Amino acid sequence: MTAVSVVPGASAAAIQHHYDVGNAFYAQWLDPSLSYSCALWEEGDEGLHAAQINKINWHLNMAQAGGKARLLDVGCGWGAVLGRAVKGHGVGHATGLSLSQQQVQWVADRAPSNVEVRLESWTTHSAKTPYDAIISIGAFEHFARLDQTPREKVDGYRAFFCFCHENLVPGGRLSLQTITYENADRQSFSQFFAERIFPESDLPHLAEIADATKGIFEIETLRNDRDHYARTARCWLRNLRAARAVVEPLVGTETVRAYERYLALLVVGFHTGTMNLARAVMRRIESDRRGLRAVAGHDG
Ligand SMILES: C[S@@+](CC[C@H](N)C(=O)[O-])C[C@H]1O[C@@H](n2cnc3c(N)ncnc32)[C@H](O)[C@@H]1O
Repeated sequence: MTAVSVVPGASAAAIQHHYDVGNAFYAQWLDPSLSYSCALWEEGDEGLHAAQINKINWHLNMAQAGGKARLLDVGCGWGAVLGRAVKGHGVGHATGLSLSQQQVQWVADRAPSNVEVRLESWTTHSAKTPYDAIISIGAFEHFARLDQTPREKVDGYRAFFCFCHENLVPGGRLSLQTITYENADRQSFSQFFAERIFPESDLPHLAEIADATKGIFEIETLRNDRDHYARTARCWLRNLRAARAVVEPLVGTETVRAYERYLALLVVGFHTGTMNLARAVMRRIESDRRGLRAVAGHDG
């Protein structure tokens, strides 16, 4: 399996700047599964935790991971997908990648024997055996940087989809969830987000994802769920405000204020449609040349 020589997105240091603020801090305002991405409301009136579990089940089902031998979660956070895959969906073995030291330690301390967590980027990960399914939720937002040209950005995304293609069994699914630019572009990416909250990161446009998957992945299902992210961010902001007295001694007043401002901006961004939330399920395309030969009547 080939490794990508240049990391196309955020460095490990940039990821740790955000995700290593402290596990105890995040535990105060995320739901009990420590899911740090947009939830999925199915009933409408369930709470945040139930909606996060819906989201995890949705991806596991759409990736057709149930009962399969091997699952990869790229950007596994605090491991909610990994745990649910092996305990609730009969997955034989689940591997998670994260660049956050604290997340990896947290998962490793609790992982059953059939869950493996690695402090590693997908750009250097190499699997001996292909995975039956790949899930990546809320990590794609870090696979490009604001200082890249549009071409370099799509090339980096292409490298990610090639990595998934190479590491999936024939016909295997990738279930991807990412924030996208909608009624905005990188020029409107706030300085505050770029410098204080998510350094070395840039969001994709849906068209860039479609461009980068051409010929290697077929997009089977696409949902745009920005209202779900506005609601998720509202829950997080409410929880964080309620926990101010607990979290300020942990991380300091400035960090708490910055996170409150960031979450409030998320609510507004998703509410107004500046950003969108894409859930895209893709099927690995097999050799296109074989398909073309068959169409042209050259096979058999
Ligand atoms: C917003 S969190 C999402 C975590 C989890 N998927 C969830 O939904 O709760 C983003 C995750 O992506 C990981 N990440 C970012 N860039 C990465 C890379 N190049 N390789 C592997 N993981 C990466 C971070 O370490 C973090 O775990």
